[in-house]
Amino acid sequence: MAELGFEVLGVDIDANRIRQLSAGDTPFYEPGLAALLRSNLEAGRLSFTCSIAAAVDHADVHFVCVGTPQRPDSQAADLRHVDAVISGLIAAGLGPRSLVVGKSTVPVGTTARLAARIAAAAPGAELAWNPEFLREGFAVEDTLHPDRLVFGVTSGGRAEAVLRALYSRMIDASTPVIVTDYATAELVKVAANAFLATKISFINAMSEVCDATGGDVVELADALAHDDRIGPLFLRAGIGYGGGCLPKDVRAFQARARELGVGPALSFLGEVDAVNMRARARAVRLAHELLGGDPMNRAVAVLGAAFKPNSDDIRDSPALDVATALRRDGAHVAVYDPAAAANARDRHPNLHIADSVIGAVAGAEIVLVLTEWSEFRTLDPAALRRHVARPVVIDGRGVLDPDAWRGAGWTYRALGRPPRP
Ligand code: UGA
Repeated sequence: MAELGFEVLGVDIDANRIRQLSAGDTPFYEPGLAALLRSNLEAGRLSFTCSIAAAVDHADVHFVCVGTPQRPDSQAADLRHVDAVISGLIAAGLGPRSLVVGKSTVPVGTTARLAARIAAAAPGAELAWNPEFLREGFAVEDTLHPDRLVFGVTSGGRAEAVLRALYSRMIDASTPVIVTDYATAELVKVAANAFLATKISFINAMSEVCDATGGDVVELADALAHDDRIGPLFLRAGIGYGGGCLPKDVRAFQARARELGVGPALSFLGEVDAVNMRARARAVRLAHELLGGDPMNRAVAVLGAAFKPNSDDIRDSPALDVATALRRDGAHVAVYDPAAAANARDRHPNLHIADSVIGAVAGAEIVLVLTEWSEFRTLDPAALRRHVARPVVIDGRGVLDPDAWRGAGWTYRALGRPPRP
């Protein structure tokens, strides 16, 4: 929003983070974000504070962008942070011209509940829900060039006009703007993530069937993709989805459906989740098999720690899940990731985090490629072979060229693909 020319004040309760951001340091890796942060700090359009009262004084529009992680005790979303922000805004004296705009992913029904709280405590203030569809690794691009905007508003209010005016600096007439009620806006977000997760689990389910029949899931996905109604995207088979969004959104959506008495409508999402978790277990089993059944004290290299490329996010990372399982089974696991090494080192002290691909694969009896970084796509199998103890690779993300790796003397294996010589 600062890049678009607005004067933006960012608020967080974490004083360290506020100091860091004020000094121009981004707290996580996201392509293009560091430059954007610094240029807008320098231009004086962006500043940070721990004071929610300062935010209430500063602006009439307040974006709520806090996380809604999975609750530790259930599959439901933890709404503590969202509730705390609304309480903070109300306590700080939200004015009658204010518009609160929710970006967080929330269970359907949350906005109506929060709107009632605001109406009771801050008459005249309005609430809109405007879900966020950005992808990590493309956050800047997706934010500045959204493929659609969804405004959940109440009829007769001024929220739609305010939001249209705000976003007019970002979009042109070709960007779809969907103005709808609160419930639909909330549902668009979780339905989109549930659909994406379903596509991934669909192809991973086909991968299980391929393993049982000798079929090849990559050729199957390619053939399916020629049907425009299916398309090629999110049909990459492998070790499944992870991150801070898809896994918890799929679970929270089911939990909410059960609360609403429509649990059976979303019970298939339980299968989507189960297929997804099985993909990780299948990769571990394949590694066991290729190690002759016993991973104890064997040297294993894992390339990738982030849940996806162009990110240092390791939340619910399938790669680290597989690495940890092999470590638990007694293997010596060395992990390399171009961006997530520091996070992996912090959270997984029992894994050896190497500083380079070569550092990770040196002496390895099996190499697992578990995050689809482009750095791994372009690895030279002949050169790498000289560093390993046994040239065996599991391509957990379908990023390697099997012919090139086999041609260089590697045993190449992938879930859902027949073990060709
Ligand atoms: C996801 C959605 O794609 C965004 O639209 C949404 O805004 C975001 O969640 C959110 O809720 O905030 P993100 O978590 O950044 O974005 O990651 P994705 O690009 O969806 O990838 C998720 C996982 O699926 C990754 O682990 C990726 O490796 C895996 N994946 C993706 C596959 O296994 N196969 C595929 O074909 C595609």
